[in-house]
Amino acid sequence: MKKIWDEEKQTYIRAAISRNTDRENEVLKNRLEAIDWSVLEHIERKETVNERGVFAPLQAVEQSEIASRSGEFRELGLKAIRDGKVGAVLLAGGQGTRLGLDKPKGTLCIGEGKQLYLFEQLICNLTEVTDEAGAFVPLYVMTSNINHADTVSFFEEHRYFGYPKEYVMFFVQEMEPACDFSGRVLMSSNTQPAMSPNGNGGWFLSMIRAGLLPELKQRGIEWLNVFAVDNCLQRIADPLFIGATLAYGCESGAKVVRKADPYEKIGVLCTEDGSPSIVEYYEMTKDMAEDRRDDGELKYAFGVILNYLFSRKRLEKIAKEHMPIHVVEKKVPYIDENGISIKPQQPNGYKFETLVLDMVHMMRDCVPYEVDRSYEFAPIKNLHGVDSLDSARELMKNCGILLS
Ligand code: UTP
Repeated sequence: MKKIWDEEKQTYIRAAISRNTDRENEVLKNRLEAIDWSVLEHIERKETVNERGVFAPLQAVEQSEIASRSGEFRELGLKAIRDGKVGAVLLAGGQGTRLGLDKPKGTLCIGEGKQLYLFEQLICNLTEVTDEAGAFVPLYVMTSNINHADTVSFFEEHRYFGYPKEYVMFFVQEMEPACDFSGRVLMSSNTQPAMSPNGNGGWFLSMIRAGLLPELKQRGIEWLNVFAVDNCLQRIADPLFIGATLAYGCESGAKVVRKADPYEKIGVLCTEDGSPSIVEYYEMTKDMAEDRRDDGELKYAFGVILNYLFSRKRLEKIAKEHMPIHVVEKKVPYIDENGISIKPQQPNGYKFETLVLDMVHMMRDCVPYEVDRSYEFAPIKNLHGVDSLDSARELMKNCGILLS
């Protein structure tokens, strides 16, 4: 069978082979042979991966309703936590390329005068809930090969920010190769193709591969609250959110915020062919974006903030199904044909990712649970500007979090 290095177009691999010693080539070829290259076929399908069905608006559980049923939701949620039925999953396997850090994103100092780390703030947010419940929530932290050791040692060094170590478990997500825009596999060294984490959608499969399913079952965990590392105002294992999902008898829930304007760049929770789904802002027609209800509210009014609650049993079922693979443009450092190391300033290649938002579409139903964005949404994607460390610091200060 033809090997990847036999393909003439694979100039980076071939150039590395021509430079390498026999011993180095043995290492490289073993690595190349261990990779499933069919992933590259997705480049041709990248426009069609998102061929979508028929969208329709999905009514959210709005803040007014949550306020009127808060006692009931809170009790249900706290009971589920106390009964040990809730686990939390921190998605921290990303590379944070927009932030340009060479360390895990969670190690970012978000304090101004004082040292306050992103991981620390998240643990602090979780502890507010566990203090109220009087019970700990097991926290599963997804890392990648690139940041695993640094993440674990950061938690160790900071004594898990006061959270009990036996309630924190780490697992590593899988990697996929990266290539340039014409499908040439990029090399990160003479013996290593460039590999990147395979997106945040593979987290449950990675948990299974890491042997954590028996652990979840043994602990009696029935619900997993999945959340992103980069929202420092993230409410984790929020009893009201859990309680609302239980009260509505649904198998998933998604925290949503009211869109700031019809064209805000945020994925909107809706239905697609009758099942819950997320329509990306760039997929929305002008009519969809601007369509309003009789009371003047936008029909597609609520955006997701990467905080979901999923039923474990349903996750086990969908683990056997295929998820769409998205071809994403990113900056990928590489070694060129002359052996020179290049650190691109602009996206130069494709990574292959599955996305957690596609899991929502695999659920029977989903509760769109509205939260106040000024208290729960401060994503840090960049250092400055929109969704940045600067904007998050302002939002944290407005919430009374001391940064200095
Ligand atoms: P983003 O989509 O913002 O990606 O991740 P990123 O890698 O952090 O940042 P950029 O795009 O390179 O600048 C959203 C969430 O999903 C996690 C991230 O850690 C973050 O919590 N994630 C992303 C993973 O856990 N694994 C991945 O492969 C990608």
